[in-house]
Amino acid sequence: AQRKQIDKVLALFRLTREQLVDVQAKMRAELEYGLKKKSHGLATVRMLPTYVCGLPDGTEKGKFLALDLGGTNFRVLLVKIRSGRRSVRMYNKIFAIPLGIMQGTGEELFDHIVQCIADFLDYMGLKGASLPLGFTFSFPCRQMSIDKGTLIGWTKGFKATDCEGEDVVDMLREAIKRRNEFDLDIVAVVNDTVGTMMTCGYEDPNCEIGLIAGTGSNMCYMEDMRNIEMVEGDEGKMCINTEWGGFGDNGCIDDIRTRYDTEVDEGSLNPGKQSDRLALLQVRTILQQLGLDSTCEDSIVVKEVCGAVSRRAAQLCGAGLAAIVEKRREDQGLEHLRITVGVDGTLYKLHPHFSRILQETVKELAPRCDVTFMLSEDGSGKGAALITAVAKRLQQAQK
Ligand code: BG6
Repeated sequence: AQRKQIDKVLALFRLTREQLVDVQAKMRAELEYGLKKKSHGLATVRMLPTYVCGLPDGTEKGKFLALDLGGTNFRVLLVKIRSGRRSVRMYNKIFAIPLGIMQGTGEELFDHIVQCIADFLDYMGLKGASLPLGFTFSFPCRQMSIDKGTLIGWTKGFKATDCEGEDVVDMLREAIKRRNEFDLDIVAVVNDTVGTMMTCGYEDPNCEIGLIAGTGSNMCYMEDMRNIEMVEGDEGKMCINTEWGGFGDNGCIDDIRTRYDTEVDEGSLNPGKQSDRLALLQVRTILQQLGLDSTCEDSIVVKEVCGAVSRRAAQLCGAGLAAIVEKRREDQGLEHLRITVGVDGTLYKLHPHFSRILQETVKELAPRCDVTFMLSEDGSGKGAALITAVAKRLQQAQK
């Protein structure tokens, strides 16, 4: 009887090919909807312009600081880029962000970040240095330029007060001013998907998609300017941060939602929106507890459940990716599209089956696209530094 019960629950997580094709079509519709002017502010898949308009061309050079906030680790980095030879050297330090700070006041959070920068500069023997900085800030931001980003809402376990609706670059600048110890030129604010795409794009110019499967899940891609209604101009391309974690918040995939999805959502920090890191931590704690005093059969059940849940996650991610590559193929009127996806995130990197199932799903749902997956080896800090280098070059050219 117990076995029957288990099979019944596991069946809820199984997705048929038809269901995946349907998810792909719905994601495609959401991607298109978010690009329209009339849906500005209404779309659940937000399709945020990033003001990153091209991949690095190899002439970038200089010394940059980068911050990387929003994944498992908060990092401060020093990135040295040598032009032409395409060689990049990086030094980085991981800092903890205590829960009390993640969910305290905005001022406390940004003061803490600046404290970490100060420690890092000290550690690198760069005390008092004035360097251009790229800020990888991996939360949905409304951008009007490369160096301005208004936080739309926190995700992934963060909930510091007085930040939503504020420009995070201003908040960082003010915290630097409060400390009054060094001067930094904040040149770019960057989502981790965009940093990841840039890191991989430095090696492979065909890389026009960035994907994260880790603490959160998100995707960015290069879109034709003529399709981005919120931004003036029709020439060239701009990177769009889809914020696809919001997919389904309007109920469009309720047909495949299980009661477990609802339970996880209701227990999360932002009910009704995405799902967050705390939920994952809770699951981990539960598993650890099970592991401590569970029988062998229990462990098998846990393994089966994890297998079913992660398989479904990889398939859903694959269906989303299939939607974007098919869109790009059709937009360009191509019979076949060759494209590279830069990928990062612990789920993709460490899970034994996630990446394989993801890739198989994309192949199955977008057979006319030849999709290469490229692991972002050095995190998105390198990408943020490259974006900063390009922005700095353009800034100087304008002067
Ligand atoms: C890191 C990137 O490698 O991966 C971060 O440098 C990114 O910018 C992170 O947020 C995503 O993965 P995870 O698993 O740490 O959330």
